Amino acid sequence: MPERSIRPMEARDLPRVSEMERLCFATPWSKDAMEYEITQNGLARYLVLEEGGLVCAYAGAWLVFEEGHITNVAVHPDFRRRGHARAVLSALMRLALGEGAEFMDLEVRVSNGAAIALYQGLGFKKAGLRKGYYEDNGEDAIVMVNDRLGRALGSAPAP
Ligand SMILES: CC(C)(COP(=O)(O)OP(=O)(O)OC[C@H]1O[C@@H](n2cnc3c(N)ncnc32)[C@H](O)[C@@H]1OP(=O)(O)O)[C@@H](O)C(=O)NCCC(=O)NCCS
Repeated sequence: MPERSIRPMEARDLPRVSEMERLCFATPWSKDAMEYEITQNGLARYLVLEEGGLVCAYAGAWLVFEEGHITNVAVHPDFRRRGHARAVLSALMRLALGEGAEFMDLEVRVSNGAAIALYQGLGFKKAGLRKGYYEDNGEDAIVMVNDRLGRALGSAPAP
């Protein structure tokens, strides 16, 4: 497998990240929104994973006191099922833990079995349901929480 590395997202990544947003999500974030996240939002932390020098996964969170709220996790369709999401999300969890987060949470579509399995594998548990949360199709969101970040990372591979 080509060399894999994880680093903070930078402005030079935005064209590739925007392309991936469009490929991965029904309601993609705009390039401007993502640029705001990495240049203006002091609470935001975004990581990219490169394989062979090409960005093929990213994940982000807002760190607010003891909470780390995961905003995005995406892997380019050509690079899935290689452990990239697990690796970049583990790195984000490690970063959040290092900055004092006591738990992380997220919303996921009820139909998104791949993502739900990913999060469960990293110790997230279903904690609630937001009815009609997604505006594009009225789908419900499952709220998932991991309040044992240290324990979950103990069994996760380092990037
Ligand atoms: C969900 C997503 C991030 C997974 O990325 P990935 O790099 O393929 O995932 P990984 O290879 O790291 O897989 C980690 C675990 O997730 C689960 N998983 C990932 N893809 C899966 C699939 N298609 N079906 C079932 N489980 C899946 C498995 O438990 C897997 O562990 P395993 O390989 O040991 O069985 C990717 O499919 C994606 O970008 N989807 C579109 C965007 C999205 O839905 N983001 C999440 C929004 S909440």
